[in-house]
Amino acid sequence: MDTRIERITDTTEYGETLDAAARIILSGGLVVFPTETVYGLGGNGLLSDAARKIYSAKGRPSDNPLIIHIAEPRDAENYASTSEVYYRLADAFMPGPLTVIMKKRDCIPMSVTGGLDTVAVRCPSHPIAHALIEKCGVPIAAPSANISGRPSPTSAEYVVEDMNGRVDMIIDGGECEIGLESTIVKIDGNSLTLLRPGAITYDALCCVCENVKIAPAVLNKLAENEKPLSPGMKYRHYAPSSDFVLLDGEKRDALEFMKKEQIENNCAVLCYDEEFEYLNASLSISIGKENDLSTQAKRLFTALREADKLGANKIYAHLPTPTGLGLALYNRMIRAAAHTIMKV
Ligand code: TXA
Ligand code: MG
Repeated sequence: MDTRIERITDTTEYGETLDAAARIILSGGLVVFPTETVYGLGGNGLLSDAARKIYSAKGRPSDNPLIIHIAEPRDAENYASTSEVYYRLADAFMPGPLTVIMKKRDCIPMSVTGGLDTVAVRCPSHPIAHALIEKCGVPIAAPSANISGRPSPTSAEYVVEDMNGRVDMIIDGGECEIGLESTIVKIDGNSLTLLRPGAITYDALCCVCENVKIAPAVLNKLAENEKPLSPGMKYRHYAPSSDFVLLDGEKRDALEFMKKEQIENNCAVLCYDEEFEYLNASLSISIGKENDLSTQAKRLFTALREADKLGANKIYAHLPTPTGLGLALYNRMIRAAAHTIMKV
């Protein structure tokens, strides 16, 4: 398949590209588009066939459901059973990096929800994503635009790496602002379960809803045979092809260990800006200042892809502290490392 790649630099001038993109989606094709979190691999959320094409382009198991993207929070009415809690979340966080799981309506095909009777709904704030959904007039089903198992793409360069030849169009809108996927919550009556942490933090959710539980798989490895609350939790994700190991201990000890492994075993490391000079530059990738979690979130997936290209057989990183935005970093990193944590 020939993939048309369109770059949009001025977000007020994208009429022609988005008209073409909307025509592709409405006729059942696939378009990769930027969002504020990561790039999405979009198709018509009302067509079973589009969902099948998405699973096949990503190489994703078809029991792992897709998020549908809407233009306005109230559009969720058409596709899901909303509630007072939904509107509280919508008022506080939409448009933005929050996905809400509710009972689905019949118009959403089972192939989109991986056979579940619930659907994940998100209203992105990125102007290109918003304009595209509005132009289509249908919800856009979109997982992250990576080949299944790889880190989600946060710039068009990585989308092209994974998706060129597999989709009809890629819209290059530059770098994604947040860099980690949306926070996912499931509504159960008056309570919420956090299924995937993101830029909308646990504390922010607690300000809107009294009862917020964190699904055990956010922090810990699922036990054998344990059924995950979200199908995506059981798949390896975000992983570089080299072995990725997280170091747990005093920061100074972790840094010494990293340096030694670089010298003795040619290992690569993800480090903080403050540490970069002390380490071997050709085997180190900095993810931001130690206290700047937003920059770390924005750079993590790029760093994992770039670390892989250094050709080292092992990559080490600090184990983040799982509070605030750090919970999302922790969740992505323990999964990328397949829960390999080493005490130093
Ligand atoms: O930021 C994001 O959420 C990005 C952008 C493109 O919007 N999308 C994204 O989609 O990360 P994806 O498919 O890579 O991750 C969606 C996750 C999967 O782990 C899936 O298992 C879970 O959401 N999910 C979707 N629908 C669900 C449902 N009905 N019940 C439980 N989990 C669900
Ligand atoms: Mg994904």
